[in-house]
Amino acid sequence: MSDRNPNEFDPIFQAVNGQPAAVDIPEPSFESFSVDRRSDDERTELLPPPLQAPRHAPVENTRRSDDSLAPAVGVTTAVLDADRTPLAALDARNISAWFGDHQVLDRVSLTMPAGVITSLIGPSGCGKSTFLRILNRMHELIPSASLAGEVLLDGDDIYDARKRLVDARKSIGMVFQKPNPFPAMSIYDNVVSGLKLTGTRATRGERDELVETCLTKAGLWKEVRDRLRAPGGGLSGGQQQRLCIARSLAVKPRVLLMDEPCSALDPTSTRVIEETMLELVNDVTIVIVTHNMQQAQRVSTQCAFFLASHGTPGAIVEYGDTDAMFTEPIDGRTFDYVNGRFG
Ligand SMILES: Nc1ncnc2c1ncn2[C@@H]1O[C@H](COP(=O)(O)OP(=O)(O)O)[C@@H](O)[C@H]1O
Ligand SMILES: [Mg+2]
Repeated sequence: MSDRNPNEFDPIFQAVNGQPAAVDIPEPSFESFSVDRRSDDERTELLPPPLQAPRHAPVENTRRSDDSLAPAVGVTTAVLDADRTPLAALDARNISAWFGDHQVLDRVSLTMPAGVITSLIGPSGCGKSTFLRILNRMHELIPSASLAGEVLLDGDDIYDARKRLVDARKSIGMVFQKPNPFPAMSIYDNVVSGLKLTGTRATRGERDELVETCLTKAGLWKEVRDRLRAPGGGLSGGQQQRLCIARSLAVKPRVLLMDEPCSALDPTSTRVIEETMLELVNDVTIVIVTHNMQQAQRVSTQCAFFLASHGTPGAIVEYGDTDAMFTEPIDGRTFDYVNGRFG
């Protein structure tokens, strides 16, 4: 267990003095981490009724046809494409979360469709980051944390006791608010660091190809191809964030979680990251937390509005098609939030 701030802590890429700390990621035992396996009926008896969540029409998978999946001209994508993993949906069912006795999420259910960018919006403290950390089993790194519910990746519960923790983290990558590359490590080694940490073998040639592919997909290749041996810490903030995206992509995740990935960046870098996300969503399902309403509208197809009103645990007030959420929300609280009346 770690007492580091999980917002700045990447369990796959945990660093000590700028170098990866450990190859083995500990498997927490289910004795030490509580996942509530009671039936929904049993839990419902103990809990107040959830907030009603009006639903807009379900979002269709917006993945383009295979023709449009072709990489940009001159891009080598052999390593990622050779054994390309199919797009996967992430399905959170009745997720509740606690820190000690303090409940911070109450039976949140959300389907994040394959090949779609889903944005999570809502005021600070309503549980968006907690929800995101539950989606890739990072929540359990916090000593007092517990949860109830299920997270299904392509139909498989990532919290199933037979599932390895490292597999969930590998399949479901995370990019944080503050870029966290290994600063002393070269750009090249930053990208391939995940291979070692997840025990993936690759030849030198394969690594070279992977570095080019991932940096290209992250929109950074042209800016760094002449200085791959320079330290990652020497890049600008926006470049470091794209390096972190490239590093996440190198282990071929099926879902990429992004917790306010642009909030520490200038508008130009933000724009580049947004363009990168719109390219990436052809290959990987994306869930982004953002406080920037324009960003949610620019990048996401589906949106979920979280709220923790009057000290109650966070819940989804409304979710559905992003345009509908912003132009004709069903719930008055959504209307007030997206129009900047609170939060
Ligand atoms: N490590 C932690 N220990 C105890 N409480 C926490 C921890 N992290 C978050 N919380 C609490 O959980 C609630 C939800 O926080 P968070 O998920 O960070 O919300 P958001 O990302 O929407 O701002 C808040 O009340 C916050 O204080
Ligand atoms: Mg947060």
